[in-house]
Amino acid sequence: MSPGKFITLEGIDGAGKSTHLLWLENLLEGMGKSIVATHEPGGTLLGERLRSILLDSRQTMHPETEALLMFAARREHLDKLILPALTKGEWVISDRFTDASFAYQGGGRGLSEDKLDGLEHWVQGEFQPDLTFYFDVTSELGRKRLNNRGDGVESVDRFEKEEGEFFDRVRKSYLKRARKFSHRIHIIDSSQSLESIRLKLKDIILTIC
Ligand code: TMP
Repeated sequence: MSPGKFITLEGIDGAGKSTHLLWLENLLEGMGKSIVATHEPGGTLLGERLRSILLDSRQTMHPETEALLMFAARREHLDKLILPALTKGEWVISDRFTDASFAYQGGGRGLSEDKLDGLEHWVQGEFQPDLTFYFDVTSELGRKRLNNRGDGVESVDRFEKEEGEFFDRVRKSYLKRARKFSHRIHIIDSSQSLESIRLKLKDIILTIC
């Protein structure tokens, strides 16, 4: 059996990843692939407990604590879900992975790339996604979409309550990383129509099928 593929979706909050994930899942299932859809931080029992601490807007923590918890959740995710599924020949689609740590903890919180490189190497060695879609929106559009999702102000999490400049730095860092790893990370202009985004996603997916 051929090993599965690992696809990750990235973008600032409000970039529209969740809608695209559902569509991609259906597309790949239609092509006969067995799909595991997951997200970070989370995806395991322990990972979900860490997620609720990390996203709790009442919780404060040092940026390094935040990075360590993200990578701790990732270690579990790889061990319990991602690697076993890939070994079985399943395709794993994850709403966020390590690029998010470089963008949010690196760009957003200001942690050095060296420290994050060290954690990345410790937790995943040379393992990388086969394909990453980075959904690009401005912080203004991201914020507008978050405000329009209609689930109330109370549900704003610890990251979503950050200012526009934070998301500008996160975005800049995602774009820098996408250019550095252009063989793997595809930049998708997420302000385009759903139809044109889907056409593009399909074209790119076909390159790894
Ligand atoms: P989401 O699942 O709703 O996209 O939210 C997860 C939040 O966690 C999002 O604001 C980005 C943040 N995050 C990081 O800061 N670093 C990470 O490594 C990951 C995976 C997520």
